[in-house]
Amino acid sequence: MDRFLFRQPSFVGYGAGVAQLVGEEARSLGLERVLIVTDRGVRAAGLVDGVIASLASAGISAEIYDGVGTNPETTMVDEALALLKASGAGGVVAVGGGSPMDTAKGVAFLATNGGRLLDYFGRDVPLAPLPSICIPTTAGTSSEVTNNIVFTDPGSRFKFGLSSPNCAATRALVDPDMTLTLPRGMTAATGMDALTHAIESVTSKGAYDLTRSLAVDAVRLIGEWLPEAVADGSNRQARERMMMACLEGGIAFNQSKLTIVHSMSHPVSGWCGTAHGVANAILLPHVMAYNVAHDVEGFARVAEALGVDTRAITRSQAAEASVERVRELNTIVGIPDGLASCGVTEDAIPSMVADAMKSAGVRMNPRPTTAQDIDMIYRQAM
Ligand SMILES: [Fe+2]
Repeated sequence: MDRFLFRQPSFVGYGAGVAQLVGEEARSLGLERVLIVTDRGVRAAGLVDGVIASLASAGISAEIYDGVGTNPETTMVDEALALLKASGAGGVVAVGGGSPMDTAKGVAFLATNGGRLLDYFGRDVPLAPLPSICIPTTAGTSSEVTNNIVFTDPGSRFKFGLSSPNCAATRALVDPDMTLTLPRGMTAATGMDALTHAIESVTSKGAYDLTRSLAVDAVRLIGEWLPEAVADGSNRQARERMMMACLEGGIAFNQSKLTIVHSMSHPVSGWCGTAHGVANAILLPHVMAYNVAHDVEGFARVAEALGVDTRAITRSQAAEASVERVRELNTIVGIPDGLASCGVTEDAIPSMVADAMKSAGVRMNPRPTTAQDIDMIYRQAM
């Protein structure tokens, strides 16, 4: 019998144009000055302009930090926090993908809790953060609705995650129009990140009916609409369906937690700089093949959600078919077929294995996992 604590921290505004509510929402949080956290690509695409205008119309001034990189590092949070303090801002607004959102959430959290991010790895986060509003520009990470923040420590290359309701955004404004200009490669990578969250959520040991329903529907929407969003980024229906999938998957995995795909992809990004979504997409079918016999029903439901006709086959065959379907999706959206082609070298594997084993995902994986197993999967995925 299910027994769970469902605590979903973020207020969510959803739909085309909802990003324009940012001024009103910031005002309702009592803010007069904010730090906008973004990256140069998002800023160059003009996506910050409307946010500044909405804030200004509500009488709120903004300082901008646009130094966030592809994979967020703890030093970016330190820089943005210094700017927040110097500017007198009382809260943060993130405009961007997972990296700007995690950076903004990290700033909001460190501003009240103090110290450095790595101090909190494996520990509780005691204090509520500053108010924050996340406006995603990708349908991928779901950082806007999760308790998670993930950073690389540049000294050790350790990519680590913190998870606490005190790491969550105060408001999420989920506006599919903000994804219309996302380039094709990033649409594919972030969409496969969202698929990874959804499939891991379905098959996590922490899944239950409520989370599984959301996650299976996210799988269905991504299977149907990601190829469309990649083929034609201006397709508003495809962008809207992908945003909905990202929201469903994010709420699901925030509760159920993830398995070893993310445990393994974070070290790939930390050590080799590979984009998060690409690392997940490459690892996903390999981990699925490794796990499939340990959650046959979960993977069979994934297969059905991805359009596999399961009526004339056994549940085991259906589960197996989910792996092949994900490989096909990777090919359709143009994901590279191995880690080696993304700058990953075999000599990094021992360090990546050691870091992967520190991740909480190992405990949530449907199959008991050893360091030798992780090593084997990395080598298969090269
Ligand atoms: Fe992810």
